[in-house]
Amino acid sequence: MSLVHLNGQYLPKEEAFVSVDDRGFLFGDGIYEVTAIYRGQLFRFHRHLARINRGLSALRIDFDPSGLEEIHNRLVQENGLSSVQVSYVYTQITRGVAKRTHKFPPQPPEPTLYLFSGEYNRPSRDAWEKGYRSVTVHDQRWARRDLKTIQLLANVFGAQAAVDAGVDEIIFVNEGMAIEGSHNNFFMVFGDTVVTHPLSNQILPGITREVVFNLAARLGYGIQERPVPVAEMFQADEAFHSGTLSEVKPCVEVDGAPIGDGTVGPVTRAFFDAFLEETGSGS
Ligand code: PDD
Repeated sequence: MSLVHLNGQYLPKEEAFVSVDDRGFLFGDGIYEVTAIYRGQLFRFHRHLARINRGLSALRIDFDPSGLEEIHNRLVQENGLSSVQVSYVYTQITRGVAKRTHKFPPQPPEPTLYLFSGEYNRPSRDAWEKGYRSVTVHDQRWARRDLKTIQLLANVFGAQAAVDAGVDEIIFVNEGMAIEGSHNNFFMVFGDTVVTHPLSNQILPGITREVVFNLAARLGYGIQERPVPVAEMFQADEAFHSGTLSEVKPCVEVDGAPIGDGTVGPVTRAFFDAFLEETGSGS
């Protein structure tokens, strides 16, 4: 039995229900967050919290998220995840339940808060060492991709495009640039420089992206934030995705063409090993 949190209550998932008038259900009017937990320790929680705060104020949802850390810890503990190598907590906050109207309800409803947790089974090192394949997908998302909102249909289409193509991941292409994945950021390696799309309304400001920046400084690689045209992406020595649960995920092929020599490269491996060390979750 898995315990979830809904609007102040802890209860079995089977017993957790939200109203059909919830604006998350009707409009996708809300935000979400996915936090990784390594051997029971929340990873970069304060950064996730900062992103939640930013999302709430952008959506003008009046909600105090200060209790979320305690809820995270309790779900991890009660769901037996304290000693698991990698687990996660999903958090969703919607504007709440109100009569359907496009504009904000005149009387702001109580926001709906929902959290659930689970174990993440990291792929074996052998699987990781084979690398992953991607396809490019035209980015059809709205113009505020920097907000982690629950309206994710274009991301869903993107992820499904990978399944349809028989590959693992996608790279969204916006105005000819390779910007990010359907649920992760994207890095390309050119020599001893690691390049990723700059922060803007076009991509999500990933917490793992920040971790990669920190690791680059420690490992002695340069970082460049700039848009990379698709044609240039194919000239990269290596590429990888970064994200909560994606961690550092090597991309060895895009649209059937190899990146570098088509195998996992030493820079990606160095970042992944440093990431494992940083999270204390190496085997
Ligand atoms: N996705 N870009 C997009 C579009 C994302 O949805 C995510 C995260 C990221 C990486 O952000 P972070 O490193 O903070 O996880 C980048 C989560 C994990 C999800 O949708 O499940």
